[in-house]
Amino acid sequence: MENLIDIKDLSPKEIDKLIEVAKDIMQNPEKYSEKCKHKIMATLFFEPSTRTRLSFESAMLGLGGSVLGFSEAASSSASKGESVSDTTIIVGGYSDIIVMRHPKEGAPLVASMKSIVPIINAGDGGHNHPTQTLTDLLTISCLKNRLDNLTIGLCGDLKFGRTVHSLITAMSRYKNIKFVLISPDELKVPDYVKEEILDKNNIEYVETNDIEEYMKDLDILYMTRVQKERFFNEEDYIRLKDYYILNKKKLENAKKDLSVLHPLPRVNEIATEVDDDPRACYFEQARYGRFIRMALILKMLNIK
Ligand code: CP
Repeated sequence: MENLIDIKDLSPKEIDKLIEVAKDIMQNPEKYSEKCKHKIMATLFFEPSTRTRLSFESAMLGLGGSVLGFSEAASSSASKGESVSDTTIIVGGYSDIIVMRHPKEGAPLVASMKSIVPIINAGDGGHNHPTQTLTDLLTISCLKNRLDNLTIGLCGDLKFGRTVHSLITAMSRYKNIKFVLISPDELKVPDYVKEEILDKNNIEYVETNDIEEYMKDLDILYMTRVQKERFFNEEDYIRLKDYYILNKKKLENAKKDLSVLHPLPRVNEIATEVDDDPRACYFEQARYGRFIRMALILKMLNIK
């Protein structure tokens, strides 16, 4: 049995295959509509979600399977003190695959050690979010028709933004990728990501706190929200939350074929006036999440 805890659990070849299947599902949904008949997926969300949970559920329903689960710890026996491991063992008896989001880094990994069914990490604290990265890769592949030779700006909360850490890890495996890391000093990419991923793989990157400095060079601008729920101090959050607000003026020098992405939810970091710009691709990106998750469910359940 395989689990998806970290994006590194998938080789680039496996990711290419998932993208290929997701594109086929987009073209021929009816071909897949009964592939998971009699299969049950459990979504155990100990932390809030709109896109990840609902796109997983929509994915399983689109494959003809069924779903069960909870959307907050308070409505599960975690509120009575049950451990993540025990919850996982129990739910493994009711389902064929478990999708888990948890505020504690490493919780899905711990769950996978005891689980009798495959576990998918749907976001663990400020650590990883591999299925968002699969969504991002499918989006980039559809928009650019390639995953190499790209200059990618990552902007906002690069410290706590788990989508950023997983995306850097994944994109660093493709040829000629350059990163522009745009953040306030307090929210820079953690050293472990720089040392273990960027430096180790000789990936070219610059760090800046100016969103406009490298705008003209970017193929992708990946905006992120400041992660309020990970701050220890509300004053720091209030001081940093509106540090970047992307608007039409800031896009004036950007390439005509720039793609603006955002894992969402958005708070203030992209002005709504940008939504009408043809370069704004974040809503399309969220829609792609359903198809790559359909492909992932099939792979993890060994369904051809
Ligand atoms: N991108 C993402 O993880 O969104 P949700 O928190 O709504 O699932």
